[in-house]
Amino acid sequence: MRSRVRLHTMRLPVVFIFHVLGLLSREWLVGVSALGFNWGSISSRPVPPRIVVQMLKTNHISKVKLFDANPDALAALRGSGIEVMVGTPNELLQSFAESTAATDAWVSANLTSYLGKGGANIRYVAIGNEPFLRAYGTQYQNVTYPAMKNMYESISKVGLGGQVKVTVPCNADVLLNTPPSKGEFRPDMKVTMTQIAAFLAQTNAPLLMNIYPFLDLTLDSNFPEDFAFFDGTTHSLVDGPNTYMNALDASFDMTVTALAGVGYPNVQVVVGEIGWPTDGAPYANVSTAQRFTQGLVKHVQSKQGTPLRPGMQIEAYIFSLLDENQKSLLPGNFERHWGVFTFDGQAKYPLDLSGEDQDSNLSNADDVPYLPTRWCVANRHGNVSELLRNAEYACSSADCTALSEGGSCSNIGMPDNASYAFNSYYQLNLQDDNSCSFDGLGVVTFVDPSVGDCRFLIGVSEAGKLSCKFYGVFLMAFLSSYLLRTIFAEVTSSRCPHWNVVF
Ligand SMILES: *[C@@H]1O[C@H](CO)[C@@H](O)[C@H](O)[C@H]1NC(C)=O
Ligand SMILES: *[C@@H]1O[C@H](CO)[C@@H](O)[C@H](O)[C@H]1NC(C)=O
Ligand SMILES: *[C@@H]1O[C@H](CO)[C@@H](O)[C@H](O)[C@H]1NC(C)=O
Ligand SMILES: *[C@@H]1O[C@H](CO)[C@@H](O)[C@H](O)[C@H]1NC(C)=O
Ligand SMILES: *[C@@H]1O[C@H](CO)[C@@H](O)[C@H](O)[C@H]1NC(C)=O
Ligand SMILES: *[C@@H]1O[C@H](CO)[C@@H](O)[C@H](O)[C@H]1NC(C)=O
Repeated sequence: MRSRVRLHTMRLPVVFIFHVLGLLSREWLVGVSALGFNWGSISSRPVPPRIVVQMLKTNHISKVKLFDANPDALAALRGSGIEVMVGTPNELLQSFAESTAATDAWVSANLTSYLGKGGANIRYVAIGNEPFLRAYGTQYQNVTYPAMKNMYESISKVGLGGQVKVTVPCNADVLLNTPPSKGEFRPDMKVTMTQIAAFLAQTNAPLLMNIYPFLDLTLDSNFPEDFAFFDGTTHSLVDGPNTYMNALDASFDMTVTALAGVGYPNVQVVVGEIGWPTDGAPYANVSTAQRFTQGLVKHVQSKQGTPLRPGMQIEAYIFSLLDENQKSLLPGNFERHWGVFTFDGQAKYPLDLSGEDQDSNLSNADDVPYLPTRWCVANRHGNVSELLRNAEYACSSADCTALSEGGSCSNIGMPDNASYAFNSYYQLNLQDDNSCSFDGLGVVTFVDPSVGDCRFLIGVSEAGKLSCKFYGVFLMAFLSSYLLRTIFAEVTSSRCPHWNVVF
């Protein structure tokens, strides 16, 4: 049924030989793709990691990025062959910077214990998560580079120096908002970024840059919509000899220029996060997310690279694998809907990961341990103001972002929207009878109350046990990690002799 991943005919003989010699595991046959997925877990009831890993394998997803060394996720990844980047929370940076004792301990607890025969294929350790975000002030500015150095030393000590690379995921606001050919790091970050670039060049490791055209578009009303996508634009960005057709290439090359500006033009740039949410904001829906993500995949798989790095395939980690219903709403109601898959591992839209225009769809997670098939809804004849009051109560802890403006359930009206809220609360509380009382206004039903595209969820029963600590703050990242936001506004009001924008 699925024919998405094909062996390139050129590689067959080689693969065949290795296969005969038994040197390559099955996963190697498809090779490591340039596309990976961020696997976050800020969910009330995450799908058990072993089921997620099976889903990754079925879809031939060969790379993931975790936000911490989650023991359950890493255990599930053992033997899968899937390439793993393990994150480290910003909270650990200070101790990492102070001595190699802390990084030695981390390596022993969170790296070497998962490696070895039949182990996890950990290839990168990411130091912190967007530590230079303006919202954090200067707290991580001077500890990140020493933390990277100490981690590298600890990894080298155990003989993994060539195998496991050390990198740092940067938010886009580490750069100034400029055209690509003028890319430079923020003045307050120049010294640190110069040290980091030197380190990355010396250790042959990439710099991770998180790039969010969705935020460019959502937060700036002057941003040309089609520039955020990949299917052609009437607003190309002409920058000297180069013409940019999409926001990703422009942001990517801005990073390339900034690295050259501090003396390291050859450091590899990898997109640490990029994606499009499906709910909770006017631009966030399934069709725009599919347009963006399929365009991204095609662009990456075309191997055309960017104007400054032509022919060098872009590497990117899609944000995100799964929806996460407990994420902070500070960035916006869309924040819980970045998944290409729903929280329970169901593909939201058809996506061909080969980028070869094949009619193929993602496979859903199998054997998800759901709670019983039942929902909690509002009594249709209930007192309206009482229903609203109870719905508000439900939404104070449960996820109701689909009800927000532009959301998939925003137009269902009363009393269905109260039902949505009641059900969200009921599932969050594992269908506990008391959680469907709502002053006598809640009713349990066995008939799916979903209304059109507004899906009423059923929760997952088995605790995935993924930890949720540390994540709260990194979400703030999205508030300021959009990059090209004001370029277009600026261009129209300034006259720069070296470049111009054709609208
Ligand atoms: C291992 O990683 C976990 C998750 O990030 C962290 O809580 C723990 O402190 C780490 N262990 C060490 C010894 O640093
Ligand atoms: C970081 O280091 C620079 C240069 O040594 C120093 O001027 C600055 O005050 C330090 N910042 C913090 C937050 O420690
Ligand atoms: C999705 O969003 C786009 C942009 O706001 C809009 O034009 C389109 O109609 C929306 N599609 C659906 C199915 O809601
Ligand atoms: C993919 O899904 C779409 C709709 O969800 C369907 O129309 C199409 O036939 C599917 N393609 C394959 C190859 O299953
Ligand atoms: C609905 O409940 C409110 C109190 O919460 C009450 O003031 C109002 O009269 C009720 N409306 C009807 C139609 O019963
Ligand atoms: C439900 O819809 C009604 C109007 O149809 C609206 O006044 C109310 O604010 C909505 N409530 C929620 C929780 O979305």
